[in-house]
Amino acid sequence: MNILIIGTGYVGATTAMVFAESGWQVTGLDVDAGKIERLRQGRLHFHEPGLEDLIAKHVSSGRLLFTTDKETAIAGHEVIFICVGTPSQPDGNADLRYIRQASEDIGHWMNGYKLVVTKSTVPIGTQEQVKAWIEAAQRQPHLFDVASNPEFLREGKAVEDALRPDRIVIGTDNAKAAEQLLTLYQSFQCPRIITTPRTAELIKYASNAFLATKITYMNELARLCDEFEVNVNEVATGMGLDPRIGPSFLQAGLGYGGSCFPKDVLELVMTARKLQVPLRILEEVMEVNRTQFTYLLDKARTRLGDFANKNIAILGLAFKPDTNDIREAPALRIIHELLLEQANVRLFDPVATLPAHASYQAVTVCSLVEEALHNADAVILCTEWPAFGQLDWENLKGHLKQLNFFDGRNMMDARLMRGIGFYYQGIGNDY
Ligand code: UGA
Repeated sequence: MNILIIGTGYVGATTAMVFAESGWQVTGLDVDAGKIERLRQGRLHFHEPGLEDLIAKHVSSGRLLFTTDKETAIAGHEVIFICVGTPSQPDGNADLRYIRQASEDIGHWMNGYKLVVTKSTVPIGTQEQVKAWIEAAQRQPHLFDVASNPEFLREGKAVEDALRPDRIVIGTDNAKAAEQLLTLYQSFQCPRIITTPRTAELIKYASNAFLATKITYMNELARLCDEFEVNVNEVATGMGLDPRIGPSFLQAGLGYGGSCFPKDVLELVMTARKLQVPLRILEEVMEVNRTQFTYLLDKARTRLGDFANKNIAILGLAFKPDTNDIREAPALRIIHELLLEQANVRLFDPVATLPAHASYQAVTVCSLVEEALHNADAVILCTEWPAFGQLDWENLKGHLKQLNFFDGRNMMDARLMRGIGFYYQGIGNDY
């Protein structure tokens, strides 16, 4: 079976690599000629550890091809994965225009049986729409099946997650389609769930929303920990030893960001509101997350009096380590607020860059941590890049004007930082 992947972003590029790595012949299709040109040279257009090397390996072996030619690509492949983006519209609903375009392209150019599989995160019921869009675009009738096969990889860990998934979810009403997909995934050692398309779509949303809830619970608990002078990291360790809870996604911080949790929680909440079965827990999750970064900023403001003309060093911009993705990054909100309050902001991130937006022009972007710390009244750590954990603060403290450290990721040891003279505050980990 030859596989076509439509969309070569995080999910598309990783999926293409995974199938090539499993021995299949794969083609990636994208409308963006620049991305395709880079990929043809085995180069990625985003930062994802390990992915570029594997893509380059399969480009060299000829197992992975890239194209912008829709007609030839669609006509030449029987199995087609849709991996395009589904961003939020201003009203919070998912924007399905790229899914629709991909479906219509498939309908228009198909020349025989196709199995069309949606990997993008799509609202519940989208498979039915995909089917209708394909049918409406057909120039002559051809048989096809649709299936939902959501992706569960994390940015920054895409290679590891995609090569060793913890489950494969296949949503289809057609036994032949399920068989074909099981064949594609035959080399993977993990449980498979064969279910209806709607169930598969909901499993994806429900998983992301649950993880966002888990994080948010810890974020809210961290505020209580501050009152009791209890360390939230220790509470998380104690809780995580219960296998029913598990140790992951209990890390309190500045709140969840990225291109998935904020968008997917909102989409689920909006869907539920429309159907008048409100998801009240998730409504609160969104609200707590919206205010989480202000919790740390308030601590900094209280310490400094106000931010006007204060030099603030921001360490980390990406929404999480090992990615250059800044979508919904808490650091962006913090920088925005600091600029509004007339602070002088100096920023260091090992990989991520600020958007070319006029509102960020006042930020001094630094290529070294030391430059960002120069004459600082306070440091705010926003992303837990592992390299930040290796910094020698005893040596670095000479660059600062005042020794104030606000740790948005609870990365530092409070006692150690205080021991070398810092006023240190985290999020529920100050003790
Ligand atoms: C998330 C899911 O984890 C993936 O399973 C899913 O496939 C993906 O969304 C998607 O829908 O495409 P991702 O957004 O890449 O992956 O990153 P996560 O590692 O889940 O982190 C999301 C946010 O939660 C980040 O801002 C991170 O800093 C925050 N987080 C995570 C915490 O604040 N505490 C934690 O303990 C864990």
